[in-house]
Amino acid sequence: MSLTARTPGGAIRADQVGRDVDLYGWVHRRRDLGGLIFIDLRDRSGIVQVKFDPVNAEAHAAGGELRPEWVIRVQGPVQRRPPGTENKELETGEVEVEARTVTILNRAQPPPFAVNEDSPVDEQVRLRYRYLDLRRARMARNLQLRHRLTKAIRDFLDAEAFLEIETPVLIRSTPEGARDFLVPSRLKPGYVYALAQSPQLYKQLLMVAGMDRYFQIVRCYRDEDQRADRQPEFTQLDLEMSFVNEDDVLDVVERCFAHVWQKVLGVSVPTPIRRITHAQAMLRYGVDKPDLRYGLEIEELSSIFGKTQFKIFHQALDAGGVVRGLRIAGAVGGKEIEALTEVARAEGSKGLAFWHREAEGWRSPIAKFFGEPELAQLQETTHAEPGDVVVAVADQVEIASASLGAVRKAAARMLGLVKEGSFEFVWVTDFPLFERSKETGEITAAHHPFTSPRPQDLQLLSSEPLKVQARAYDLALNGTELGSGSIRIHDPELQQRVFQGLGISREEAEQRFGFLLTAFRYGAPPHGGFAYGLDRVVMLAAGQETIREVIAFPKNQQAEELMTDAPAPADAKQLREVGLELLRPPLKRPQ
Ligand code: AMO
Ligand code: AMP
Repeated sequence: MSLTARTPGGAIRADQVGRDVDLYGWVHRRRDLGGLIFIDLRDRSGIVQVKFDPVNAEAHAAGGELRPEWVIRVQGPVQRRPPGTENKELETGEVEVEARTVTILNRAQPPPFAVNEDSPVDEQVRLRYRYLDLRRARMARNLQLRHRLTKAIRDFLDAEAFLEIETPVLIRSTPEGARDFLVPSRLKPGYVYALAQSPQLYKQLLMVAGMDRYFQIVRCYRDEDQRADRQPEFTQLDLEMSFVNEDDVLDVVERCFAHVWQKVLGVSVPTPIRRITHAQAMLRYGVDKPDLRYGLEIEELSSIFGKTQFKIFHQALDAGGVVRGLRIAGAVGGKEIEALTEVARAEGSKGLAFWHREAEGWRSPIAKFFGEPELAQLQETTHAEPGDVVVAVADQVEIASASLGAVRKAAARMLGLVKEGSFEFVWVTDFPLFERSKETGEITAAHHPFTSPRPQDLQLLSSEPLKVQARAYDLALNGTELGSGSIRIHDPELQQRVFQGLGISREEAEQRFGFLLTAFRYGAPPHGGFAYGLDRVVMLAAGQETIREVIAFPKNQQAEELMTDAPAPADAKQLREVGLELLRPPLKRPQ
């Protein structure tokens, strides 16, 4: 029988009753009813029931032997299930296939975990046997969703006249703020390539090359600590456009998301997507990637407490800090307040002040420190109603923001305010160009050094660099940063000034980025672009908690790929060839 006659089992429906089908797949489950044997046969398309009737003695005998995960071929007619035996849970639930011929194509050892259910299994075990994990329905669905989503993106961008162009992976370092993975050169001893953290400079050079609209679904490599939404290798949807301003880039990106969400999830994303400034996001939500599936906005309370008796507040204000608060509507008792205080502390706050709003007034362990006018203003600002609680943090603005941002998130979860299944996209605009590094105290690029400052801020570049705003924007969805982008610098002189703002001398800039500066001297068009994390987009579209659930073969938290055991010790000969000696060769593993 030819290959095309293969029938996807999960696609069989009542209109095929009476037709002979040729199925291949895995034994999902077996039920032995004495005479009749049923198996659920699984392939990528789903599950179909196969019936083994003792009338077909040979097939029935084979059916008796089958065990979960054996690979088989079944031929026979599609039949309607007898009334009352249909299975509404299955898309194929109205029908079954009567096995006339069965071929066992491969036997299987009992798997280390049940493939035919979504029961919890230790993730390290799942990763070691990833090929079994990917047979499970949820994981198979995730990969299929990823494919459809990627295809919808490609189709959309193709229709918008974008060209898909590949850029190299082995490159000279591109600064995106993470540590590089290095690859030593064999042919040029003592030299290294960096694995691309992103195609940033290449896509800008493609604009100089006149490509006008570029995109790429591209693997990026960053040696960072792992988190739920971070992997050392991940995929970006990367794009760049010439002769555009911010609105043009945002417009293409949001129409792309609207198209993909409609096409793949059947969900409409209203456009234009709302925008808030970075300053507003930090004030209202305490983060630059706000979750707008719920309200709970942070309030500035500093002016209320300008003359307060409460030592903790006035000390913070005297030190140039702020008092900010949050009204939480709903049942928040002592236990919840304690938990929220811990959340605030984890972000550096020294505590969490709170007032319960009651019909007669405010109840709080610190009530005695506040006069009527202060409490009246607190009421006016927060609109608290009886039953609500107002919490506040007094500290430096960064700590107050971060703590209340975290408290806001925790309170929303606690009170069940997060609307599951809803998608709240938001643009965050007007980022600062520079920021002070928490580790070194030095000025660094908030986005990357190729981002254009706003023209009206140019005169601040050398005098007050931290006040300069960038033509940069981020897209967030449900509290996760999906992507970022900017209008770029295309003038070599301005690029030099920004490098200098970052403490990179003219000479060093020529040495590290001379190729870019030179390219800009040969007629660079104004350009800008954007990149989003495809893994994160698929994770949120699939309703998953980590990007590992939507990557076929991810690394674990220690950046190991457990199935093949990477990283692995290197062979001495290989090391010699690339001129390397490892400082700490791995300990020999017990055999
Ligand atoms: P940025 O560094 O913000 O911008 O990266 C863009 C998006 O890529 C995703 N991302 C990651 N996803 C998984 N694991 C990681 N380790 C990881 N790191 C980043 C995030 C992030 O928002 N060249 C610029 C874009 C531009 O300016 O056009 C860039 O790479 O979703
Ligand atoms: P204490 O005087 O330390 O018992 O604190 C009194 C109350 O103020 C407690 O509820 C603390 O959690 C809270 N608190 C302490 N430090 C701060 C702060 N920096 N901001 C807001 N509340 C605080």
